[in-house]
Amino acid sequence: MSDEPSLDAGSEAPRSPKGTHDVLPPESARWEALIAAFAQLATRYGLGLAHTPAFEDARVFRRGIGDASEVVTKEMYEFEDRSGRRLALRPEGTAPIVRAYVQHRPPVPWRVWYVTPAFRYEQAQAGRYRQHHQVGAEVLGTEDPDVDVEVISLAHDFYAALGLTRVALRLNSLGDLECRPAYLEELRSYLAEHEGELCDEHAATWSRNPMRVLDCKRAACRAVADKAPLLSERLCGPCTAHLARVATGLDAAGVAYSHDGHLVRGLDYYTRTTFEFAGTALESASDAIGGGGRYDLLAEALGGPPTPGIGFGSGIERVLLACDAEGVFPALARDPEVFVVDVTGGEVARDVVLSLRRAGIRAARSYDARSMRAQLKQADRSGAVVAVIVGPAELEASSAVVRDLVAGTQTTEPLDVLLARARATGTLRAGST
Ligand code: HAM
Repeated sequence: MSDEPSLDAGSEAPRSPKGTHDVLPPESARWEALIAAFAQLATRYGLGLAHTPAFEDARVFRRGIGDASEVVTKEMYEFEDRSGRRLALRPEGTAPIVRAYVQHRPPVPWRVWYVTPAFRYEQAQAGRYRQHHQVGAEVLGTEDPDVDVEVISLAHDFYAALGLTRVALRLNSLGDLECRPAYLEELRSYLAEHEGELCDEHAATWSRNPMRVLDCKRAACRAVADKAPLLSERLCGPCTAHLARVATGLDAAGVAYSHDGHLVRGLDYYTRTTFEFAGTALESASDAIGGGGRYDLLAEALGGPPTPGIGFGSGIERVLLACDAEGVFPALARDPEVFVVDVTGGEVARDVVLSLRRAGIRAARSYDARSMRAQLKQADRSGAVVAVIVGPAELEASSAVVRDLVAGTQTTEPLDVLLARARATGTLRAGST
C-alpha cells in the first residue's frame, strides 16, 4: 500500500443521514393518501393550508418551545448562515405558525393546517427519527373550550378515517399563570425531599423542569411520581371549568379519553388543555401518534399581542406504523389502466398515451423499441387491465387491437373511435362502451 491517498477515496456512494429515510413509491402512495385524508378533513373543519419556511430565526424556538426544554437544549439543529444569522431547522410546527400569525396578524379565529418535516437530533430508533414528518392543525384567537373539542375531534376523525381503532387518548390540564406557579412550588419542595430516589437524568434536571419527572417511564421516577402532588387536583376555578367543558364536549362528540394527571408534554409552551394519542397496537416506547394542547401565552412570547391558541401535530411515520400494526390503510395500487404496445417505432404509443392521460386515464408504455414479446410481458406485469396494441397492420389501418388483459379477449378498433371513447367515458375498461 502506498502512502498516497487512494484515488477512489471519497468515491463511496453517500447514504441518507442517520435517522432519516427516503419515502419512495410504492410506499409513498400511502403518504399521498394519508395527506389527502388529512387535507380533506381539515378543510371540512374550516382550516386553510399554511406553509412556513423549514428554517426560522432560532429565537422562534428558543422563546417559543423554551430554552430549558430538551428539544431546544439537546435536539435542535441550530446553525449560523453565511451572513452570521442564527437559524434553526424547525423541530416542530407550532412556533413557526405562531410566528407567522404575529408577523401577518390575520383576522381571528385563524384556523390552519400543515404538513411538514420536523428535525430533532434524537437517538434514532424504531419510530424515532431525526427528520420526521407531521400533519398538524392550529387555531389561534379564541379561548373557547369548544375549539379544544374541535381540534381533538379532528385528530380523532383522522385516525378513524385511516381505519385505526386501537387509539387511546389521554387528556390533562397544565393550568395557567393563576394556578401553575403555586403548584410548581409545591412540586419542587416534594421533589427536593425525594431527589435521591429519582433516575440519574432527572436527579440532575428536576429543578429546571420539575414536571418532566411526572411522566418519566423509569421505575425510580415512577415511584416518586405516583405520590407527587398533581396539578389536575389544584387547578384554579377557570381552568377547572375549562377542562370540564372540554370533557363534556368530547363526550358529546363520542371521542373516548381518559384523564391523566401525569401527562406532561415535552414542549414548554403549553397551558390548560394538553392531550396525547397513543397507538396501542405499537409495541415500541414511541407509541405517541399525535399530541397537542393549548398555548395561550405563546404569541406574547414571540412578541405578538396576547392571543390564545390550540393545536396538535401527528407524526406521519408513527401513524403509518400504527396502521401496519393494525393491518389497516394498505398502500393503494397505482397500476396503469392501459398499457400501449407499439412495435412500429413508438410514435403511436407516444401520441396515444398522451391522449389517454389527457382523457384522465392512467396510461403507460415501454420505451427503447423493445420487441412485441417484451412489451406484452411488460403490459402484463404493469397491472394494466387493457392493452392497446399497434403493429404494422394496425398502423396501416389507423387502428389498434384492444386486448382485455383480464378476460383475454380482444377486438380491433379505429384509433380515432378508441380515443373518442376514452375522452367521452374516461376509461377503456371492458363494459364501459
Ligand atoms: P410533539 O408531541 O413533540 O408535539 O410531536 C407531535 C407528534 O410528532 C408526536 O406525537 C409523534 O407522533 C411525532 N414525533 C415527534 N418526534 C418524533 C420523532 N423524533 N420521530 C418520529 N415521530 C415523531 C409537537 O410537535 C407540537 N408542535 C404539537 C402541537 C401542535 N401542539 C400544539 N399544536
